[in-house]
Amino acid sequence: PLVTTKKMFDAAYKGGYAIGAFNVNNMEITQGIVNAIAKTKSPLILQVSKGARKYADMNYLKAIIDVAVEQNPDIPIAMHLDHGDSFETCKQCVDDGFTSVMIDGSHHELEENIAITKKVVEYAHDHGVVVEAELGQLGGIEEDVVGVSSDDVMKHLTDPDQAVEFVEKTGVDSLAIACGTSHGAYKFKEAPKLAYDVIEKISEKIPEFPLVMHGSSSVLPEFKDLINKYGGDMPDAMGVPEEAITEASKMAICKVNIDTDLRMALTAKIREVFATNPSEFDPRKYLGPGRDAIENMVLHKLEVLGCSGKA
Ligand code: G3H
Ligand code: 13P
Ligand code: ZN
Ligand code: NA
Repeated sequence: PLVTTKKMFDAAYKGGYAIGAFNVNNMEITQGIVNAIAKTKSPLILQVSKGARKYADMNYLKAIIDVAVEQNPDIPIAMHLDHGDSFETCKQCVDDGFTSVMIDGSHHELEENIAITKKVVEYAHDHGVVVEAELGQLGGIEEDVVGVSSDDVMKHLTDPDQAVEFVEKTGVDSLAIACGTSHGAYKFKEAPKLAYDVIEKISEKIPEFPLVMHGSSSVLPEFKDLINKYGGDMPDAMGVPEEAITEASKMAICKVNIDTDLRMALTAKIREVFATNPSEFDPRKYLGPGRDAIENMVLHKLEVLGCSGKA
């Protein structure tokens, strides 16, 4: 059924794993993800960005997600707004039937971030919807917001004392923190280290409270290599090592955001079909393999997160 993230996060926190939150932009991406969770009976968060709403038309995306939920009545699926930029966007999503929204006020000063988050929490909670907020700054690029540079990521980590104040004052249900990750395919220049101490300190100060890790794609070598082999140009792409994702998932991190790995799986397969069969022009012959690649990637990801079979 369509659910909020409340029970998923409680179980993930206690069980020492994390729920995968996957970005959806079209039917094939959604089906690839949902096929994987249906096979393994795993809980799922499908998330929609403002850009996705604009690209696909929310009515189409909602209809696709509704079918995924109907076809999997025994699996908990949350529909979440990723990086909501204003009260109005969040309100619209609550009114559209989302079960969870993110208000991303991380680029504001603390007081302003608290104020806007509180406003969203009040409206969302009145309508049975849960809220994720963000404190601290990530690197990389998300739509039109440019994060801190990869050299500066470790200087903008979430301050644990501020996190306590933020959670108390806003009543938010989960918090995205900056612990060394970045958005996109170019996260690091050399072997990265996550700030596990930040996760640990926050979880000591706010026990049982679910934390969220954005920018958590691993930039899988399999897809990076296929892209570069078949005419792409992403030689310096680098993500978060899978061992680091597993480590964080065992801690207070209960939601792990993945978009880049989906994009790269789909792109790699399409490039491969185009390069190896240049006469092919039936979209089903390249979107189909792309969808299968997403399914297999997500099956693997569920193992990395520890949430496979936890529905
Ligand atoms: O954090 C950003 C997500 O990857 C969504 O990206 O805003 O381009 O849809 P988007
Ligand atoms: P990636 O770019 O690492 O996939 O992160 C996605 C994300 O954080 C969406 O909110
Ligand atoms: Zn994000
Ligand atoms: Na966890």
